[in-house]
Amino acid sequence: MQERVLPLAEGTVSSALTPAQYRDIHDFLESQAGIRLGDGKEYLVTSRLGRLLPSLGLGGYDELVQRLIGYGNSKIQLAVVDAMTTNETFWFRDMAHFRILVDGILAETKPTRMRIWSAAASTGQEAYTVAMSMQDAMQAGRLSRGMKYEIVGTDISPTALSEAQGATYCGISAGRGLSDDQRRRYFRDQGNCIELLPQYREGVSFRTFNLLSPFDPLGRFDVVFCRNVLIYFSQDRKREIVSRIARVLNPGGHLFLGSTESMSGHEDLFEMRSIAGGLVYRLRR
Ligand SMILES: C[S@@+](CC[C@H](N)C(=O)[O-])C[C@H]1O[C@@H](n2cnc3c(N)ncnc32)[C@H](O)[C@@H]1O
Repeated sequence: MQERVLPLAEGTVSSALTPAQYRDIHDFLESQAGIRLGDGKEYLVTSRLGRLLPSLGLGGYDELVQRLIGYGNSKIQLAVVDAMTTNETFWFRDMAHFRILVDGILAETKPTRMRIWSAAASTGQEAYTVAMSMQDAMQAGRLSRGMKYEIVGTDISPTALSEAQGATYCGISAGRGLSDDQRRRYFRDQGNCIELLPQYREGVSFRTFNLLSPFDPLGRFDVVFCRNVLIYFSQDRKREIVSRIARVLNPGGHLFLGSTESMSGHEDLFEMRSIAGGLVYRLRR
């Protein structure tokens, strides 16, 4: 944690965001979570943190910045990181990836056990879509019914993960990405919400985890989904995380990145494979 002591604000605390406060919040987020807001994203900070200030008992951004970088209050720091994450996700996002996993990788390797990491799991749609795709393939006889799997979903945002753990989705975006048939097949209605059926939750667990911390406590994986998160990081940080992912992959393991993300500078570690209309990266060893 950065230890910079700022003098306490005097007089009335302003609720407007000054360029210096924006820079301090920006630098705090990058050092704690790797997230780079970039220039001109003041509106994002005020729209996400403006609401948070009163609930944290803070009178304005001056006081917030003091708590973030002055004498580090971890409750406030965690709440700010949580609020500043972008948790957008949906069911079967980049559909080709799930086809590649089931009909490409698993059909080819026929494992009896699999460990899969959804490394920026957000509200759980990615991890559960993996489970849904594999269960469907098992029921259809395309994968062995005896295959055991564990899917570990991690994210820095406790708010997103609590929705993932509950596996109940409400509001207009609840079924985003699902056809009517999939919605009926995988979910049951709970009032205005949809709840994922228990069989698709089996083998799936979630925990809070920061991608900037060491990966060893998570164990090793056969497949890693690290999609639509590295876009928020600097090139150096992205490169460093991809090489650490390589170290927790089992030999021949696979990495999925978001469809708009590319793997550059890691050709020595990963080979790119194009399967079923999508891309995946296989560890070279
Ligand atoms: C846009 S979502 C992507 C969700 C999902 N992987 C997908 O592709 O649909 C990005 C997620 O990355 C998480 N995130 C951002 N920085 C992180 C970090 N340092 N460690 C772990 N998760 C992080 C955010 O909380 C957010 O839920």
